[in-house]
Amino acid sequence: MSDYTIPSPCFVLEEDKLRSNLELIQRVSHEAGVEIILAFKGFSMWSAFPIVKEYIEGATASSLNEVLLCNEHMRTLSHTYCVAYSPQDIDEIIKGSSHLTFNSLSQYKQYKDKCLAAGVSIGLRINPQESDVETDLYNPASPHSRLGITESELSTGLPDGVEGLHSHVLCESDSYALEKVLQAIETKFGHLLANAKWLNLGGGHLMTREGYDVEHLIEILRAFKTKHQVDILLEPGSAFAWETGFLKTSVLDVVERNGVRTAIIDASFTCHMPDCLEMPYRPKLVEGDREVKDGQRAYRLGGVSCLAGDYLEAYGFDHELQVGDSITFLDMIHYTMVKTSTFNGVAHPSIAIVYSDGRFERVKEFGYADFRDRLS
Ligand SMILES: Cc1ncc(COP(=O)(O)O)c(C=O)c1O
Repeated sequence: MSDYTIPSPCFVLEEDKLRSNLELIQRVSHEAGVEIILAFKGFSMWSAFPIVKEYIEGATASSLNEVLLCNEHMRTLSHTYCVAYSPQDIDEIIKGSSHLTFNSLSQYKQYKDKCLAAGVSIGLRINPQESDVETDLYNPASPHSRLGITESELSTGLPDGVEGLHSHVLCESDSYALEKVLQAIETKFGHLLANAKWLNLGGGHLMTREGYDVEHLIEILRAFKTKHQVDILLEPGSAFAWETGFLKTSVLDVVERNGVRTAIIDASFTCHMPDCLEMPYRPKLVEGDREVKDGQRAYRLGGVSCLAGDYLEAYGFDHELQVGDSITFLDMIHYTMVKTSTFNGVAHPSIAIVYSDGRFERVKEFGYADFRDRLS
């Protein structure tokens, strides 16, 4: 992969891949006439924000911590949506936000005066109950979802002081799924659009995935904007960091139990790649195949935590695995880094960037103090 030595374990962002995603996102933004902002919940690697800022301006935050990160490292006010705001955080969140979206009418009633006094643009998250997401864990549009206000609650029009609507119901979806969501928004919330200044279409638009119909996305966004005369925002997370880097790990041990061999690595699925267990998602490797082919050696990949289920079913390798061998998981930048934990006190992978000129920089190392200071 390179002639420098990458420490293990280590998340490595590749600048040229990030830039090519950013170029596409910027093109969509310009050609469709919409604003595209970064959802921190999917990608918060702030050492890369100077690169991100060359292409886009804004970010969306889902907590006070993300608002503060936006203010400090994107150097701008955030578009904020929290599932619920707490009385102890709300003032600081309002201070750091340009737009603030409520998930319920009760929270809107509780905090709208504070927002209006501060000049923050108020939005409501609506739920058009239309989605192509099949995994319940990732489907905000399921029948009893707590995420977003349904049409029956908004039949009388936009409440006082509300300027925007926000809808997030997609996940790694294509433009045709978005087209159906736009139709559902028109059908169920069309009566509100005429008075809305902005419509935030959330995330889940995987425009940087190979095969995504980018021209169709541009076309439907332009058409919707023209028809409804409303400013449109998208706030993807995954699309920014999609396939922009990897997690390098190393084999610490190989154990064989009842004929099944497991290579134990110096990282953990539950701590560092939780989607591999939750979704479940099976990442590609540099060194092996996701399916074991004829003649290949089969190894389960085992995490270093004590959780019994912290492993992935067998991958296929063309060689016997040895202690010290690298196991490199691809596409490990979006959501992985933001979801890590130090369960079991496992070592947190370092964070690094490979710049376009070939330079390698380890931007963060973690140690005992990071583990200790999360606890007390
Ligand atoms: C409200 C909201 N906006 C944006 C996103 C980003 O979605 P994605 O990373 O799939 O593009 C999410 C993801 O859960 C979300 O809940």
